[in-house]
Amino acid sequence: MTEFTLIYPSKEYECKVNDYIEEFLKYKSEINGTGGFNRYDNYDEWLQKVKGDLELQSIFEDRVPASTYFFVRKSDDRIIGMINIRHRLNEFLLKEGGHIGYSVRPTERNNGYATLMLRLGLQKCRELNLEKVLVTCDKINIASAKVIQKNNGILENEIFSKIFSEVIQRYWIYL
Ligand SMILES: CC(C)(COP(=O)(O)OP(=O)(O)OC[C@H]1O[C@@H](n2cnc3c(N)ncnc32)[C@H](O)[C@@H]1OP(=O)(O)O)[C@@H](O)C(=O)NCCC(=O)NCCS
Repeated sequence: MTEFTLIYPSKEYECKVNDYIEEFLKYKSEINGTGGFNRYDNYDEWLQKVKGDLELQSIFEDRVPASTYFFVRKSDDRIIGMINIRHRLNEFLLKEGGHIGYSVRPTERNNGYATLMLRLGLQKCRELNLEKVLVTCDKINIASAKVIQKNNGILENEIFSKIFSEVIQRYWIYL
């Protein structure tokens, strides 16, 4: 069986993560769970930002500590997905954003990979001593809703997001 692992970002994955992001641009797909990769000019700046996200003292008041991981297939060391885990919730995250964001590269979808990646991400949440995790998705994002449901997500409610002009589903996963 092909094995997967979550890997903390390092310099050696620079080409691979650039290739990952390029695929989203090529397929005009939404990108999630990258720790804001698309907002940075270069990989080193983003690496610094990802490291800073872990250091409480450098986090602005409205930001919370977070961990970003590459979801890597061991057989070919390819980045298949990315996942971002917020260690706690602020007002916005509790309402809309949730604890976790993720994506799977377009050419590797529908293989159960996001379901597995979220499962591995929930393991990281257990290590952070979280007892329950909020995961949200747009109501129209049926694939993501299924990923959450298959990881025992319990729908609390649906809200209308004024920021995204979308109906958002809020699921809790009890760890
Ligand atoms: C959402 C996303 C992570 C799913 O990744 P994935 O690896 O394809 O997910 P999985 O293969 O684990 O499961 C997807 C499920 O949705 C189903 N699915 C996929 N596309 C679908 C669609 N358009 N309509 C209905 N169901 C769909 C699959 O059949 C599968 O369900 P099944 O196991 O019951 O067959 C991926 O599409 C993605 O990265 N999207 C862009 C970013 C994003 O939306 N992130 C989530 C933000 S909340």
